Order: sequence, then structure tokens, then C-alpha cells
Amino acid sequence: MRTEISPAILYAGSIVVLITTENEDGSPNIAPMSSAWWLGHRCMLGLASYSQTTINLRRTKQCVLNLASDTMGDQINSLARTTGTKEVPARKITLGYRHVKDKFGISSLTPVPSDLVNPPCIKESPVQMEAELVDIHEMSKDVPDRAGSSVALELKILRVHVDDSLRLPGHPNRINADKWRPMVMSFQELYGLAPKKATNSQLAEIEEELYRA
Ligand SMILES: Cc1cc2nc3c(=O)[nH]c(=O)nc-3n(C[C@H](O)[C@H](O)[C@H](O)COP(=O)(O)O)c2cc1C
Repeated sequence: MRTEISPAILYAGSIVVLITTENEDGSPNIAPMSSAWWLGHRCMLGLASYSQTTINLRRTKQCVLNLASDTMGDQINSLARTTGTKEVPARKITLGYRHVKDKFGISSLTPVPSDLVNPPCIKESPVQMEAELVDIHEMSKDVPDRAGSSVALELKILRVHVDDSLRLPGHPNRINADKWRPMVMSFQELYGLAPKKATNSQLAEIEEELYRA
């Protein structure tokens, strides 16, 4: 038996990314987000238009995608319901958000310099991707009271840094999927992956280098 329902959100599960961007005064901002997916060396992000991260990305065209491991719950929670915008948008006030200027301070995360972009990497994130903005798509243009409220951002990944503990021995450019434990956000709750594979993967029989463009 199944029932038609109308969930207010449809976030069925995707990994948590801590995006670092540069504020207008040169200070760094961090925002947790999870509407992110990759195709080749491009990444699509879904973000609220009025978030400081979106404002910074539109202006500077640079960010770092710091992937959160499942041990980073405290840091993610300390950043949740905060915004870098000085004026907290009415919608966020309703949801209990507050303005925080020093996101690194509040989360006890550590900035380390990036190679190719101004925003810093986050030392505690085991996978860090320096990226630049290449395109913006305004979402929900067909819905009068939602038009312009969110955007899909296409990023070009410029450089990837990975903690050595996650590298696959014998493969200079591979991440060991058995070792990488991402934090997953599903319907607002935070989960880790089970410690072992659910089943064998037919897809994983393809040599990873064959995907390189
Ligand atoms: C685990 C988690 C996942 C989130 N995912 C998203 C998301 O995918 N897109 C989005 O716009 N906001 C998302 N948020 C909310 C943002 O963090 C929030 O809008 C925040 O105020 C952005 O910070 P900023 O205004 O300093 O950029 C998420 C928050 C948490 C804690």
C-alpha cells in the first residue's frame, strides 16, 4: 500500500559541503549546504539567492567546497542557522537564524590558504575542492512568489586536496571509497554511511581513469 503525500521538503539524502567564500571586506565566510552534485569536473550547487555565500560567489566567482566527514557533526551544528548577511532575511528570522560574522571562530574550524582561489580551505575537511563560478541559473521562474529566491550555480573544479589517509594505495589520483565517510543530510537529519559496502558495484568495475576528460 502507498499514500500520496505532499512533503514540504524533498531532501532525500546528499552529502554535506562546507563552502568557503570571501566577504566584501576580505574576511572568510563558511556555509553548510547539501544541494550539491558533480558531473565530471563540474559541480552544481543549489543555494538561496539571499545567502551571503551566493552574494560572495556572484561577486568574486570563487569558493572552496570542503566536504564534511561524518565526524564533523559538532562543527556543522555550530554553523547551522547562522548567516553571514548582516541583516538576517525575514524568512531566516522565522526559522531561528542569527547573524554570525566569524564563522571560523564559532565552529572552531581552521583556515588554511588555498592555492588558486582567495577563500581558504578548511583544514578539518578531508576533501577540499578549489572552484570557480562559470554559470548561474535562476530557479523557479515559473512560480511568481518563488522566482529569484534560489539559484543553481555551475562551478568548475580547479584543484582537489585530499587527506593522505583517504588515498587509494597504488593509484596517485584516487580516493579510497572504503575509507571516505561523508556526512549525509537527509530530511534535515545528519547520517554517516554504514561501515561497509551494501553490495558489489557493477559500475565500479569500470577503470576510473576512463572518465578523465
Ligand atoms: C546540513 C545543512 C545543509 C544545508 N543545505 C543547504 C542547501 O543545500 N542550500 C541552501 O541554500 N542552504 C542550505 N542550508 C542552509 C544554509 O546553511 C543557510 O542558508 C546559511 O544561512 C547560509 O549561510 P550564509 O548566509 O552565510 O551564506 C543548509 C544548512 C545545513 C546545516
